[in-house]
Amino acid sequence: MTILITGGAGFIGANFVLDWLAQTDEPIVNLDKLTYAGNLETLASLDADARHMFVQGDIGDSALVDRLLAEHQPRAVLNFAAESHVDRSIHSPEDFIQTNIVGTFRLLEAVRAYWGGMPAQEKAAFRLLHVSTDEVYGSLGAGDPAFAETHRYEPNSPYSASKAASDHLVRAYHHTYGLPVLTTNCSNNYGPYHFPEKLIPLLIVNALAGKPLPVYGDGMQVRDWLYVKDHCSAIRRVLEAGRPGEVYNVGGWNEKPNIEIVNTVCALLDELRPSLGTSSYSAQISYVKDRPGHDRRYAIDAGKIERELGWKPAETFESGIRKTVQWYLANPEWVAHVQSGAYRDWVQTQYASV
Ligand code: NAD
Ligand code: TYD
Repeated sequence: MTILITGGAGFIGANFVLDWLAQTDEPIVNLDKLTYAGNLETLASLDADARHMFVQGDIGDSALVDRLLAEHQPRAVLNFAAESHVDRSIHSPEDFIQTNIVGTFRLLEAVRAYWGGMPAQEKAAFRLLHVSTDEVYGSLGAGDPAFAETHRYEPNSPYSASKAASDHLVRAYHHTYGLPVLTTNCSNNYGPYHFPEKLIPLLIVNALAGKPLPVYGDGMQVRDWLYVKDHCSAIRRVLEAGRPGEVYNVGGWNEKPNIEIVNTVCALLDELRPSLGTSSYSAQISYVKDRPGHDRRYAIDAGKIERELGWKPAETFESGIRKTVQWYLANPEWVAHVQSGAYRDWVQTQYASV
């Protein structure tokens, strides 16, 4: 048996591939376009591993996806591929529409045709798992209950609107065609191999470089944080036992205002890599102009996945953030290659002689 995943060279997808192959011998076909966010260096440990087959390509390339499905006959397709950065979506939304909406639509069409032609037993066992975000639910007030799966969709950024559209398409393919889909809506992830444009890796990298730590607005926006490996275990569990057509919210029960995240990262760096210049990295905190339309609060009610599938996060925020800071301190080369852009040469360098 084989699974096909899309976006497996990105932050969460690559962590998923590494964890999957650490736990099972079931091969993975990994389709990724290698946008700026795709980094094959993250998967370098799998270079000689026949269980991982990487294919550079677009989920919107129907002919390619048709061919991969026909050739590899996967028992499941997991869709991680997306444009994922809110700030980029504000500056240039077009790619978000193309990949997150049109790309997901084309993927659904290809999967529908493949699934339709499967023998009855394989057809019944097949799953399409769509990885989505809590941002589709919009913003909560301070006293509002956390997002349940039944919460109204109220996306506020081009990113979250494009993910909401993809979720709706996935839902419609179940309702209309009976495609056995599963959707997960997860809160903010953090952990190893996170591209340093997102808050936590940006803080670590900037702090060590002596640069300002930019805090948008008043720093009191609240996010729920989940260690990436817990997100991966939730996805494995939903794939294994989730009911087709259902949505599962995934979160860490870790609501924190951004400024608390910033102070925690500074305190950990003060302990693990004391700064030579200032007394604390927190001296580098710099309040900057707020993000337009900035959602104030996200909070996930992860009760359904716990009740129905028995999944709970393994890490607390304290244990996960410590591991994350330690990982960045131990992997300066990965960070340097991302910053210099050298990671983008990896495919050519690595595969030039193949
Ligand atoms: P990422 O930006 O790090 O990685 C996205 C990957 O998708 C990259 O490798 C990129 O090359 C690839 N990709 C982009 N467009 C593609 C296309 N058209 N065809 C094929 N591949 C393409 O994102 P991430 O943080 O790993 O997020 C993965 C998924 O999880 C996304 O769907 C995102 O919406 C969702 N999600 C992310 C978070 C988070 O905190 N990062 C939280 C909840 C849900
Ligand atoms: P981010 O990591 O971009 O994730 P998302 O926007 O998907 O939640 O941002 C997390 C929070 O941190 C969000 O409220 C925006 C804020 N933020 C800053 O304050 N400064 C920064 O430099 C960045 C990148 C984000």
